[in-house]
Amino acid sequence: MLHSVTVRGFKSIQELDHFELRNLNVLVGANGSGKSNLLSLFGLMAHLMEQRLQAWIDQDGGVDGVLFGGRNRTTRVDVDLGFGDFGYGFTLVPAGSYLAFSREEINNCGDPLNLGSGHYEAILPTRPDHELAGYTAEEVAGWRPYYFQDVGRFAHTQELRDNSVLKLDGSNLASFLHLPREKHPDHFSLILDTVRLANLFHVRFGQRVSFQWAYQPEVVGKDRPRHSP
Ligand SMILES: Nc1ncnc2c1ncn2[C@@H]1O[C@H](COP(=O)(O)OP(=O)(O)OP(=O)(O)O)[C@@H](O)[C@H]1O
Ligand SMILES: [Mg+2]
Repeated sequence: MLHSVTVRGFKSIQELDHFELRNLNVLVGANGSGKSNLLSLFGLMAHLMEQRLQAWIDQDGGVDGVLFGGRNRTTRVDVDLGFGDFGYGFTLVPAGSYLAFSREEINNCGDPLNLGSGHYEAILPTRPDHELAGYTAEEVAGWRPYYFQDVGRFAHTQELRDNSVLKLDGSNLASFLHLPREKHPDHFSLILDTVRLANLFHVRFGQRVSFQWAYQPEVVGKDRPRHSP
């Protein structure tokens, strides 16, 4: 599990050192204080793991939008993420309209393993043959940002077979939850317990959400998230 985030020179985050994460973390802050910017680091990570980092930069404000205060103010983005005794870190520097890796490394119990420099797309996801890189890539690929604030938009019939990967916008949430509910009740109740944990903090979506699955001949799941008091 991701337990520590260090990020420097990224969007409005000049420096965040060893920010500790637990099972549930709530970010509270004024408008414009940088909550979404911090979460967008995980959008960057998801694209990095799909070798689409440059496309993400392009869509997310370009080099000047990603560097703190633009390239006139900041010349590098540093990211170091810790999980257990391991870590993954990289430095990105401007190279024309791209950000290139000047460092990419895995941290193995304090011992860095250099993956290379001068490249534009991450090396980590390309080394499944390497035991440590493969293990790290699997972990990092699990850090994905999901936005569930508006699942009501998807309260329509969902394709039950569309359940292999939960989509980032939650649009196949009902299909995805159907399998654990039917086949893995322990996991399903863990999910419910986690949602209830969020309720303790009165997170806005945090009223009880229930799903209904309606069966039709061609295995179609009907999802209707409801908010009940
Ligand atoms: N590259 C950058 N350098 C410096 N500041 C930046 C950069 N990119 C964005 N910002 C600043 O980040 C701020 C927006 O931060 P963010 O969207 O993360 O806030 P938030 O805490 O999510 O706010 P809200 O509660 O309104 O959602 C803006 O003031 C914007 O100017
Ligand atoms: Mg925001």
